[in-house]
Amino acid sequence: MRHPHTRHTRTSRRRIVGALTAGLLCTAGLAAPSAIAAPAPAPAAGSTTPALADGLALTPPMGFNNWNSTHCRAEFNESMVKGIADLFVEKGLKDAGYRYVNLDDCWALPNRDADGRLVPDPARFPDGIKAVADYVHSKGLKLGIYTSAGTKTCDGAGFPGALGHEYSDARQFADWGVDYLKYDNCNNQGVDAKSRYTTMRDALKATGRPIVYSICEWGENKPWEWAADVGHLWRTTGDISDNWGSMLGNLKKNLPLAPYAGPGHWNDPDMLEVGNGGMTDTEYRSHFSLWSIMAAPLLIGSDLRKATPATFDILDNKEVIAVDQDPLGKQGTVLSSTGGRWVVAKEMKDGSRAVALFNENGTAQHISTTAEAVGLPGARAYTLRDLWRHSSYNTAGTISATVPAHGTVLLRVSADRAWATHPPAVELGVDGSPLMEAGKAATLTSVVTDWGRTPAARVSVSLTGPDGWALRATSRRTAAVLPTGRSLSTRWSVTAPQGTPTGSYDLTVRASYRSPAGQRAEEVLPLTVSVVVPPPSGTSGLGDLPWLSTVNGWGPVERNTSNGESAAGDGHPITIGGVVYAKGLGVHADSTVEYYTGRACETVSADVGVDDEKGANGTVAFEIWADGTKVASTGVLTNAMPAQPLTADVTGAQVVRLVVTDGGDGIDSDHADWADAKLSC
Ligand code: GLA
Repeated sequence: MRHPHTRHTRTSRRRIVGALTAGLLCTAGLAAPSAIAAPAPAPAAGSTTPALADGLALTPPMGFNNWNSTHCRAEFNESMVKGIADLFVEKGLKDAGYRYVNLDDCWALPNRDADGRLVPDPARFPDGIKAVADYVHSKGLKLGIYTSAGTKTCDGAGFPGALGHEYSDARQFADWGVDYLKYDNCNNQGVDAKSRYTTMRDALKATGRPIVYSICEWGENKPWEWAADVGHLWRTTGDISDNWGSMLGNLKKNLPLAPYAGPGHWNDPDMLEVGNGGMTDTEYRSHFSLWSIMAAPLLIGSDLRKATPATFDILDNKEVIAVDQDPLGKQGTVLSSTGGRWVVAKEMKDGSRAVALFNENGTAQHISTTAEAVGLPGARAYTLRDLWRHSSYNTAGTISATVPAHGTVLLRVSADRAWATHPPAVELGVDGSPLMEAGKAATLTSVVTDWGRTPAARVSVSLTGPDGWALRATSRRTAAVLPTGRSLSTRWSVTAPQGTPTGSYDLTVRASYRSPAGQRAEEVLPLTVSVVVPPPSGTSGLGDLPWLSTVNGWGPVERNTSNGESAAGDGHPITIGGVVYAKGLGVHADSTVEYYTGRACETVSADVGVDDEKGANGTVAFEIWADGTKVASTGVLTNAMPAQPLTADVTGAQVVRLVVTDGGDGIDSDHADWADAKLSC
């Protein structure tokens, strides 16, 4: 793509996640998430530079930027920008705090004029930038612009950058009425980043116009260590793209940097993808919740002229925005992250805490903390405000939820006196395997627990599913009263009708209850179960068997060929160390391929290695898992090594998982082959 140095091409990157996103507690297999990055060391007292004392960006900037939705396409133009400004006002986003309407790359012509001035592209901006700024200002909003701290910007078409033109370009921006500058890092000619970004700071200051200054060097020079008195925000990551893996990657880079953020100087994990279509609304709610608890800039990245009501609902959630915009200006910190079950807490100015219970897994998970752990010890009871459901509950101190796959429960916890007016916080969870064979009864157990200070009365639980399924409680499903800390467990017999095709099916568990004052409350947990078929007895090639789910670093997992990186079927003959194999699986790190083995199989075997088709950067490691246990693994294998035989005993496993990791050096060229992979049952 556009970047001349060090960065990966992103245009064709696709993390493919297969069909199974089972919604039950993870008892059987199913991709375990990777571990958390260690927290960054806190800046030593007195060692950081003070923030720019200009009163700008005292809370994280909020607004819009066109890049994530348009890149350089022609639809990025004056009418789009004005349309967004109109919608900010009409849809109440301005009232919710969104202010900046920002232009990204491609607004200029490739050449400066005879006087060295930047020229807006007349096809996109026929009236010039000043006219757009005037329009945006007339709506009570602010205008942002973009250029690069290099000789050209990042787009391949080669638009002019500001290196060596800092003072005149800044002057031109100020004359146009620009209120925000995003300053990129491409074509920087190897000049020291700190000096390039500081020169533009001084140039902006010299204009006398208040201009928010956004440093965009992708975290390459650790700007959090030196930029607090240079810019108001700095990118901490490479470019986000509109998929779960990318959002997660940026999240994990940004979380440990919490100590460096504060009023006037923010960590920026890149702009929002909410509404762009590559994630589910549940995933977008997680994205928005997590950016807010990290006090990240909230720059809408979808074309609001085409946005769905669900997108507006997310972006306009004022209770979540209040977490982001809290005047204390703290970035939330990670309290725990075991098994992809994240607890992130943020101190708020009013003494309350925002708490995100974030589930990175593809199955629902029980995630739990306490008021004491989030920094509020000692009260008899607390109010839990659910910022997505907009309702309040009381708790005796436990903060706990069963969070759906890829979901986030975002709460505000206060030690206030009003707790007794709310119903008790109740958790609804489910245990049991989400995998079932058609016509065979499977058992699930629902568990309703009262974490409130007050009892939950008239508790009743129900389970619904597709037409024709038999769903029957085989134990008690009501309780007259559940005191604090007590649970109602109900066993359910679940049978998909004979002949149900394999695939995913949605079930819903509901629990209803009443507070002591008679208020009715309900918990709902969506579940996804999979109808599976048992593997054939004897020995089968894994390249020919149906799988349960796949995750792959690039393109889809391939049957009986290597990984081709884009579409299904674009691989080549599997070849390791000059040996060609007719059968097997071709994957790309990071990868997980799961098979249902139904406790009927004994052995998995394969010759594993990096496919010959890639160069020296291909380094990977292979693992075989039987349910939750790693039963075989290799060390790091390189492209120069011959195939290594790998055999695992998988006796008794319900699910077998073939995992390939990146060998610790990123996923560049990691074409991994499970050559001649076989399953014996
Ligand atoms: C870089 C930046 C992006 C975007 C593009 C524009 O990749 O990181 O946010 O501004 O350049 O070319």
